[in-house]
Amino acid sequence: FEDLPDRRARGSRQEDVLPAGIPEVVRGKPRGWFGVRPRVRGRSGERTQKEIMCALKKQVPLSVVKLGDGPFSGEEWERSFPSKSLEESLGPLRSCAVVTSAGALLNSGLGPEIDSHDAVLRFNSATTDGYSVDVGNKTTLRLVNSKLLVMADRCRPAWYKKPDFDFFKAYQKYRQLHPDQPFYILSPSYHWNLWDLIQDNTVLNLVFNPPSTGMQGIALMMNLCEKVNVYEFLPSHRKTSLCHYYEKHKAYCMYGGYHPLTFEKSLIKRLNQGTSDDVLTLGRVTLSGLSQITC
Ligand code: C5P
Repeated sequence: FEDLPDRRARGSRQEDVLPAGIPEVVRGKPRGWFGVRPRVRGRSGERTQKEIMCALKKQVPLSVVKLGDGPFSGEEWERSFPSKSLEESLGPLRSCAVVTSAGALLNSGLGPEIDSHDAVLRFNSATTDGYSVDVGNKTTLRLVNSKLLVMADRCRPAWYKKPDFDFFKAYQKYRQLHPDQPFYILSPSYHWNLWDLIQDNTVLNLVFNPPSTGMQGIALMMNLCEKVNVYEFLPSHRKTSLCHYYEKHKAYCMYGGYHPLTFEKSLIKRLNQGTSDDVLTLGRVTLSGLSQITC
Protein backbone atom coordinates (compact mmCIF):
# COMPACT_ATOMS: atom_id res chain seq x y z
CA PHE A 1 0.00 0.00 0.00
CA GLU A 2 2.99 2.22 0.47
CA ASP A 3 3.21 2.66 -3.30
CA LEU A 4 -0.16 4.47 -3.46
CA PRO A 5 1.22 8.04 -3.42
CA ASP A 6 3.70 6.95 -6.10
CA ARG A 7 0.97 5.70 -8.36
CA ARG A 8 -0.78 9.02 -8.10
CA ALA A 9 2.40 11.00 -8.63
CA ARG A 10 3.21 8.98 -11.74
CA GLY A 11 -0.09 10.15 -13.17
CA SER A 12 -1.98 6.86 -13.19
CA ARG A 13 -4.95 8.66 -11.77
CA GLN A 14 -8.37 7.38 -12.69
CA GLU A 15 -10.11 9.41 -15.31
CA ASP A 16 -13.56 10.85 -14.95
CA VAL A 17 -15.07 8.85 -17.77
CA LEU A 18 -18.56 7.61 -18.30
CA PRO A 19 -18.95 4.09 -19.68
CA ALA A 20 -19.47 3.97 -23.45
CA GLY A 21 -23.01 4.77 -24.52
CA ILE A 22 -23.94 6.63 -21.34
CA PRO A 23 -24.99 10.20 -22.10
CA GLU A 24 -23.29 12.99 -20.18
CA VAL A 25 -26.67 14.28 -19.02
CA VAL A 26 -27.05 11.52 -16.44
CA ARG A 27 -24.68 13.52 -14.33
CA GLY A 28 -26.43 16.17 -12.29
CA LYS A 29 -29.93 14.77 -12.76
CA PRO A 30 -32.00 12.75 -10.31
CA ARG A 31 -31.33 9.15 -11.07
CA GLY A 32 -33.93 6.44 -11.20
CA TRP A 33 -36.63 5.06 -9.00
CA PHE A 34 -34.48 4.79 -5.94
CA GLY A 35 -34.09 8.53 -5.51
CA VAL A 36 -30.38 8.48 -6.26
CA ARG A 37 -29.06 11.99 -6.72
CA PRO A 38 -25.58 13.41 -7.05
CA ARG A 39 -24.71 14.46 -3.57
CA VAL A 40 -21.10 15.51 -3.74
CA ARG A 41 -20.73 17.92 -0.85
CA GLY A 42 -17.42 19.45 -1.74
CA ARG A 43 -14.28 17.44 -2.14
CA SER A 44 -11.74 17.23 0.59
CA GLY A 45 -8.89 14.95 1.46
CA GLU A 46 -8.69 16.51 4.91
CA ARG A 47 -11.79 15.33 6.76
CA THR A 48 -11.24 13.69 10.13
CA GLN A 49 -12.00 10.05 10.85
CA LYS A 50 -15.08 11.07 12.80
CA GLU A 51 -16.36 13.35 10.04
CA ILE A 52 -16.03 10.54 7.49
CA MET A 53 -17.66 8.01 9.80
CA CYS A 54 -20.58 10.36 10.47
CA ALA A 55 -20.99 11.02 6.74
CA LEU A 56 -21.05 7.26 6.17
CA LYS A 57 -23.68 6.86 8.84
CA LYS A 58 -25.88 9.68 7.54
CA GLN A 59 -25.38 9.57 3.80
CA VAL A 60 -25.03 5.85 3.12
CA PRO A 61 -27.86 4.14 4.99
CA LEU A 62 -27.93 0.41 4.46
CA SER A 63 -30.80 -0.34 2.17
CA VAL A 64 -32.02 -3.43 0.36
CA VAL A 65 -34.55 -3.66 -2.45
CA LYS A 66 -38.00 -4.24 -1.01
CA LEU A 67 -41.54 -4.74 -2.19
CA GLY A 68 -42.86 -1.57 -3.84
CA ASP A 69 -39.44 -0.29 -4.96
CA GLY A 70 -39.22 0.47 -8.68
CA PRO A 71 -40.69 -2.38 -10.68
CA PHE A 72 -40.81 -4.76 -7.69
CA SER A 73 -44.48 -4.78 -6.97
CA GLY A 74 -47.36 -7.13 -7.59
CA GLU A 75 -48.25 -10.60 -6.49
CA GLU A 76 -45.25 -12.37 -7.94
CA TRP A 77 -42.91 -10.21 -5.87
CA GLU A 78 -44.87 -10.51 -2.64
CA ARG A 79 -43.38 -13.89 -1.79
CA SER A 80 -39.98 -13.17 -3.30
CA PHE A 81 -38.34 -10.92 -0.73
CA PRO A 82 -37.35 -12.33 2.67
CA SER A 83 -39.89 -11.42 5.33
CA LYS A 84 -37.25 -10.48 7.92
CA SER A 85 -34.83 -7.59 7.55
CA LEU A 86 -31.13 -8.34 7.18
CA GLU A 87 -30.53 -7.09 10.72
CA GLU A 88 -33.29 -9.34 12.10
CA SER A 89 -31.95 -12.36 10.22
CA LEU A 90 -28.46 -11.91 11.60
CA GLY A 91 -29.18 -10.66 15.11
CA PRO A 92 -26.79 -8.38 16.99
CA LEU A 93 -23.15 -8.79 15.99
CA ARG A 94 -20.19 -7.66 18.08
CA SER A 95 -17.17 -8.61 15.98
CA CYS A 96 -17.13 -9.24 12.23
CA ALA A 97 -14.53 -10.21 9.68
CA VAL A 98 -14.48 -9.13 6.04
CA VAL A 99 -12.29 -11.46 4.01
CA THR A 100 -11.24 -9.96 0.68
CA SER A 101 -10.26 -12.67 -1.73
CA ALA A 102 -6.74 -11.31 -2.21
CA GLY A 103 -3.91 -13.67 -3.13
CA ALA A 104 -1.95 -12.21 -0.22
CA LEU A 105 -4.09 -14.28 2.16
CA LEU A 106 -2.15 -17.37 1.12
CA ASN A 107 0.30 -18.49 3.82
CA SER A 108 -1.18 -16.00 6.27
CA GLY A 109 -2.29 -18.60 8.85
CA LEU A 110 -5.20 -16.22 9.62
CA GLY A 111 -7.89 -18.93 9.53
CA PRO A 112 -8.41 -19.33 13.30
CA GLU A 113 -8.42 -15.56 13.84
CA ILE A 114 -10.98 -15.04 11.07
CA ASP A 115 -13.24 -17.82 12.38
CA SER A 116 -13.19 -16.33 15.90
CA HIS A 117 -15.47 -13.45 14.78
CA ASP A 118 -19.24 -13.52 15.37
CA ALA A 119 -19.81 -13.21 11.61
CA VAL A 120 -17.64 -13.60 8.53
CA LEU A 121 -18.33 -11.97 5.14
CA ARG A 122 -16.88 -13.46 1.96
CA PHE A 123 -17.19 -12.43 -1.67
CA ASN A 124 -18.38 -13.96 -4.91
CA SER A 125 -16.99 -17.45 -5.47
CA ALA A 126 -14.30 -17.35 -2.76
CA THR A 127 -14.13 -20.90 -1.45
CA THR A 128 -12.68 -21.99 1.86
CA ASP A 129 -12.15 -25.62 0.80
CA GLY A 130 -8.47 -26.37 0.96
CA TYR A 131 -7.65 -22.87 2.27
CA SER A 132 -9.12 -22.87 5.78
CA VAL A 133 -5.71 -22.54 7.47
CA ASP A 134 -5.35 -19.15 5.81
CA VAL A 135 -8.94 -17.91 5.44
CA GLY A 136 -10.98 -19.94 7.97
CA ASN A 137 -14.13 -21.80 7.05
CA LYS A 138 -16.94 -19.86 8.71
CA THR A 139 -19.17 -17.99 6.23
CA THR A 140 -22.08 -15.98 7.61
CA LEU A 141 -22.70 -13.76 4.61
CA ARG A 142 -21.65 -13.82 0.99
CA LEU A 143 -21.79 -10.67 -1.11
CA VAL A 144 -22.08 -11.40 -4.78
CA ASN A 145 -21.22 -8.93 -7.48
CA SER A 146 -24.20 -6.91 -8.60
CA LYS A 147 -22.71 -4.83 -11.37
CA LEU A 148 -25.65 -5.34 -13.75
CA LEU A 149 -28.19 -4.08 -11.27
CA VAL A 150 -26.07 -1.19 -10.11
CA MET A 151 -25.37 -0.02 -13.64
CA ALA A 152 -29.07 -0.09 -14.36
CA ASP A 153 -29.98 2.52 -11.83
CA ARG A 154 -27.63 5.35 -12.64
CA CYS A 155 -27.04 4.71 -16.24
CA ARG A 156 -29.65 2.61 -17.91
CA PRO A 157 -33.10 2.74 -16.29
CA ALA A 158 -34.60 1.04 -19.35
CA TRP A 159 -32.56 -2.03 -18.50
CA TYR A 160 -35.06 -2.88 -15.78
CA LYS A 161 -37.71 -3.46 -18.41
CA LYS A 162 -35.48 -5.39 -20.77
CA PRO A 163 -32.38 -6.61 -18.93
CA ASP A 164 -29.52 -8.30 -20.80
CA PHE A 165 -29.80 -11.17 -18.42
CA ASP A 166 -33.09 -11.89 -16.71
CA PHE A 167 -31.76 -11.30 -13.23
CA PHE A 168 -35.16 -10.75 -11.68
CA LYS A 169 -36.72 -13.96 -12.97
CA ALA A 170 -33.63 -15.85 -11.82
CA TYR A 171 -33.93 -14.23 -8.39
CA GLN A 172 -37.61 -15.16 -8.10
CA LYS A 173 -36.90 -18.74 -9.12
CA TYR A 174 -34.04 -19.01 -6.64
CA ARG A 175 -36.25 -17.66 -3.87
CA GLN A 176 -38.89 -20.26 -4.65
CA LEU A 177 -36.29 -23.01 -4.43
CA HIS A 178 -34.68 -21.64 -1.24
CA PRO A 179 -37.41 -19.72 0.61
CA ASP A 180 -35.64 -20.02 3.97
CA GLN A 181 -32.31 -18.65 2.83
CA PRO A 182 -32.04 -14.93 3.62
CA PHE A 183 -31.09 -13.51 0.22
CA TYR A 184 -31.20 -9.75 -0.31
CA ILE A 185 -30.50 -7.37 -3.16
CA LEU A 186 -28.65 -4.28 -2.03
CA SER A 187 -30.43 -1.21 -3.24
CA PRO A 188 -28.69 0.63 -6.10
CA SER A 189 -28.94 3.84 -4.06
CA TYR A 190 -26.67 2.23 -1.47
CA HIS A 191 -23.90 1.70 -4.04
CA TRP A 192 -24.15 5.18 -5.46
CA ASN A 193 -24.40 6.90 -2.10
CA LEU A 194 -21.19 5.09 -1.22
CA TRP A 195 -19.63 6.26 -4.48
CA ASP A 196 -20.60 9.84 -3.59
CA LEU A 197 -18.97 9.49 -0.19
CA ILE A 198 -15.72 8.19 -1.68
CA GLN A 199 -15.75 11.05 -4.21
CA ASP A 200 -16.48 13.60 -1.44
CA ASN A 201 -13.31 12.45 0.27
CA THR A 202 -11.09 12.25 -2.80
CA VAL A 203 -9.64 15.30 -4.48
CA LEU A 204 -9.11 13.58 -7.85
CA ASN A 205 -11.99 12.56 -10.13
CA LEU A 206 -13.21 9.01 -9.66
CA VAL A 207 -14.22 6.66 -12.43
CA PHE A 208 -18.00 6.79 -12.73
CA ASN A 209 -18.35 3.13 -11.82
CA PRO A 210 -19.75 1.60 -8.63
CA PRO A 211 -17.49 0.87 -5.66
CA SER A 212 -15.93 -2.59 -5.57
CA THR A 213 -17.79 -5.49 -3.99
CA GLY A 214 -15.14 -5.39 -1.26
CA MET A 215 -15.87 -1.76 -0.40
CA GLN A 216 -19.63 -2.40 -0.44
CA GLY A 217 -19.09 -5.29 1.94
CA ILE A 218 -16.97 -3.26 4.34
CA ALA A 219 -19.62 -0.53 4.55
CA LEU A 220 -22.30 -3.22 4.93
CA MET A 221 -20.55 -4.79 7.91
CA MET A 222 -19.91 -1.38 9.47
CA ASN A 223 -23.70 -1.06 9.52
CA LEU A 224 -24.28 -4.47 11.07
CA CYS A 225 -21.41 -4.97 13.53
CA GLU A 226 -19.85 -3.18 16.49
CA LYS A 227 -16.33 -3.84 15.25
CA VAL A 228 -15.07 -4.91 11.83
CA ASN A 229 -11.71 -6.46 10.95
CA VAL A 230 -10.95 -6.40 7.24
CA TYR A 231 -8.31 -8.75 5.86
CA GLU A 232 -5.98 -7.91 2.97
CA PHE A 233 -7.92 -4.93 1.67
CA LEU A 234 -4.84 -2.92 2.56
CA PRO A 235 -2.13 -5.33 1.50
CA SER A 236 0.37 -6.80 3.96
CA HIS A 237 3.98 -7.75 3.34
CA ARG A 238 2.56 -10.81 1.52
CA LYS A 239 1.35 -8.50 -1.29
CA THR A 240 1.35 -10.46 -4.54
CA SER A 241 0.29 -10.24 -8.17
CA LEU A 242 -2.02 -13.22 -7.56
CA CYS A 243 -5.50 -11.70 -7.77
CA HIS A 244 -7.45 -14.30 -5.74
CA TYR A 245 -6.10 -16.80 -3.22
CA TYR A 246 -8.34 -19.51 -4.70
CA GLU A 247 -7.26 -19.14 -8.32
CA LYS A 248 -3.98 -19.51 -10.16
CA HIS A 249 -4.82 -16.54 -12.37
CA LYS A 250 -2.24 -13.77 -11.99
CA ALA A 251 -3.66 -10.34 -12.71
CA TYR A 252 -2.65 -7.48 -10.54
CA CYS A 253 -6.15 -6.56 -9.38
CA MET A 254 -5.29 -5.06 -6.02
CA TYR A 255 -5.88 -1.49 -7.15
CA GLY A 256 -8.66 -2.19 -9.62
CA GLY A 257 -9.36 -0.81 -13.06
CA TYR A 258 -13.11 -0.74 -13.29
CA HIS A 259 -13.79 0.26 -9.68
CA PRO A 260 -12.39 3.29 -7.84
CA LEU A 261 -10.48 0.76 -5.74
CA THR A 262 -7.31 2.79 -5.13
CA PHE A 263 -9.36 5.55 -3.56
CA GLU A 264 -11.52 3.14 -1.59
CA LYS A 265 -8.33 1.81 -0.05
CA SER A 266 -7.06 5.26 0.66
CA LEU A 267 -10.32 6.05 2.50
CA ILE A 268 -10.24 2.82 4.52
CA LYS A 269 -6.65 3.56 5.48
CA ARG A 270 -7.86 6.86 6.95
CA LEU A 271 -10.58 5.05 8.94
CA ASN A 272 -8.27 2.36 10.31
CA GLN A 273 -8.24 2.23 14.10
CA GLY A 274 -5.61 -0.51 14.21
CA THR A 275 -1.87 -0.04 13.84
CA SER A 276 0.17 0.13 10.65
CA ASP A 277 2.01 -2.90 12.01
CA ASP A 278 -1.28 -4.87 11.91
CA VAL A 279 -1.63 -3.91 8.26
CA LEU A 280 1.94 -4.83 7.43
CA THR A 281 2.12 -8.15 9.29
CA LEU A 282 -1.50 -9.35 9.23
CA GLY A 283 -3.10 -7.38 6.41
CA ARG A 284 -5.67 -6.37 9.00
CA VAL A 285 -7.59 -3.10 9.24
CA THR A 286 -9.84 -2.50 12.25
CA LEU A 287 -12.92 -0.32 11.82
CA SER A 288 -15.49 0.84 14.29
CA GLY A 289 -19.10 -0.09 13.60
CA LEU A 290 -21.33 2.88 12.79
CA SER A 291 -23.53 2.16 15.81
CA GLN A 292 -20.54 2.92 18.03
CA ILE A 293 -20.16 6.56 17.05
CA THR A 294 -22.21 9.53 18.16
CA CYS A 295 -22.53 12.23 15.55
O1 C5P B 1 -12.52 -10.05 -7.12
P1 C5P B 1 -13.67 -9.97 -6.15
O2 C5P B 1 -14.57 -8.79 -6.42
O3 C5P B 1 -14.44 -11.25 -5.99
O4 C5P B 1 -12.99 -9.70 -4.73
C1 C5P B 1 -13.71 -9.23 -3.63
C2 C5P B 1 -13.21 -7.85 -3.21
O5 C5P B 1 -11.97 -7.96 -2.50
C3 C5P B 1 -12.90 -6.91 -4.37
O6 C5P B 1 -14.09 -6.28 -4.81
C4 C5P B 1 -11.89 -5.97 -3.78
O7 C5P B 1 -12.54 -4.96 -3.03
C5 C5P B 1 -11.12 -6.87 -2.81
N1 C5P B 1 -9.85 -7.40 -3.38
C6 C5P B 1 -8.67 -6.72 -3.13
N2 C5P B 1 -7.49 -7.18 -3.64
C7 C5P B 1 -7.45 -8.31 -4.36
C8 C5P B 1 -8.64 -9.02 -4.62
C9 C5P B 1 -9.84 -8.54 -4.12
O8 C5P B 1 -8.69 -5.69 -2.46
N3 C5P B 1 -6.27 -8.76 -4.80
